[in-house]
Amino acid sequence: MMAQEKETKLPVGSSCILEGPLDPCSIIILGATGDLASKKLIPALFKLYSNGALPEHFLICGCGRTPLSQGAFRKRLEALLGEGKMGQVEKLTSFLSAVYYHRVDFDDPSSFDALASWLHEKEPEMGLKGRLFYFALPPSLYAKSARLVGSSTLSARKEGRWLRLVVEKPFGHDLYSARELDKILHSYFNEDEIFRIDHYLAKETVQNILIFRFTNSLFEPLWNRRYVDYVEITAAESIGIGNRAAYYERAGVLRDMFQNHMMQLLALIAMEPPASFETSTVRSEKIKVFQVLRPIPLDRINDFLKLGQYGPGRVGGRPVPGYRQEPGVDPGSIVPTYASMKVFLDNWRWQGVPFYLTSGKRLAEKNTHIAIQFKEVPHSMFRNVLGEHIMANRLVIGIAPEERISLTFQTKAPGPKICLRSVTMDFSYKEMGEAPLLDAYEKVLIDCIQGDQMLFWHQEGVERSWAFLTPILERIEDPSCPCGLTIYEAGTWGPRFPENEEAQ
Ligand code: BG6
Repeated sequence: MMAQEKETKLPVGSSCILEGPLDPCSIIILGATGDLASKKLIPALFKLYSNGALPEHFLICGCGRTPLSQGAFRKRLEALLGEGKMGQVEKLTSFLSAVYYHRVDFDDPSSFDALASWLHEKEPEMGLKGRLFYFALPPSLYAKSARLVGSSTLSARKEGRWLRLVVEKPFGHDLYSARELDKILHSYFNEDEIFRIDHYLAKETVQNILIFRFTNSLFEPLWNRRYVDYVEITAAESIGIGNRAAYYERAGVLRDMFQNHMMQLLALIAMEPPASFETSTVRSEKIKVFQVLRPIPLDRINDFLKLGQYGPGRVGGRPVPGYRQEPGVDPGSIVPTYASMKVFLDNWRWQGVPFYLTSGKRLAEKNTHIAIQFKEVPHSMFRNVLGEHIMANRLVIGIAPEERISLTFQTKAPGPKICLRSVTMDFSYKEMGEAPLLDAYEKVLIDCIQGDQMLFWHQEGVERSWAFLTPILERIEDPSCPCGLTIYEAGTWGPRFPENEEAQ
């Protein structure tokens, strides 16, 4: 069954694509030669440019420690963007003409002053009105970079010019370091100038959760402890840690996926309807969800949290190493790459409903989704013919790669006998011919340039999320904790509990 769309569909190119012209601005990427810039930011900027979605006047200034000439940096980007489908020769040439490179030395503040002088000259010529600093840097450099940018004339306030700072997660390593980092950021920037990215929030399917919940009256009356049995939020990945051992060994799955993406998905599913679609009201409803997270009893942590780490196996038909064999990983590492956590929300709506949050690397396939499992019917009039058990309804919100919403319900299977059959009613973006128009990084960049913080973390949310997770992390990282870590074979669906536990 397929959801049919009403005739009133907004045409492509209508106001649901982009509002108004964007301010002409400088986009200054610190860490321009790194992975994030090459894999995500530069391709996203080029795609926006190709679609006419960047401001009419802009410059991109890549900054990094690597000594590179302007020409060499442009050549790198040309090679990067020329690959595959990104190659559109004319557009690429004009895009590259707006790209510059500046070498900066994080131990030499004068290199930031030199960058500032160059911008001071360049920007008025081009009529640029804003400066967006994007920290595509290792987190260990955030504080230092904020000081360098903040104490140089790069961040000098000027009438009619805006400044924005974009930071990627992780925002700190625990509650204390998150507060420390925030103190430093706030010594130079105001809260409305700080954009803490969670790229999950910019996914079309994640934004759709709010629309789905709060524009359809059908589900809201059921969205509570009376009708919902449990909720599953799953982010399964088939990839391993790649070349990120240095970061991942300090992070593990709880810092990498739970503190941010999983918490945001939880908030969107569990929050109360905001009074209006405004940044402050939406963010404050989400914060209320973090406020009511029931602390996990540390003396019974194993009842609420299962941890795993991938061992060698096969993914997509080819052999892959285990986590401990990945380059740069300690061969005796006990860092979890998989976690499944049961959480409760202590409020009226969700009392007693378990939320199962699961995420892992090197699982059988990539699959991020949220499942709302409704309760079974209270009484079955069919018990004599069908038995007691009638499957309950299930609503699945596919985030990626399946961008769909499907609802499972029971029908009579055709035939002379009364037999049940589960069927699903589906909405799929792809089948509608509407794959998301903007990828997450494109959306993030547009929002930053527009100054729209709706899809970004507020510091209070960051701290509440850390306040919930920090005691858990301290407990599992305490060598005396009997918190089991199960090794699972790469390419499977992760550890099986409790039958085959191989606690390490
Ligand atoms: C990142 C994590 O934030 O999200 C990665 O650091 C993870 O480890 C990635 O692979 C998952 O994002 P997506 O969009 O592929 O689900």
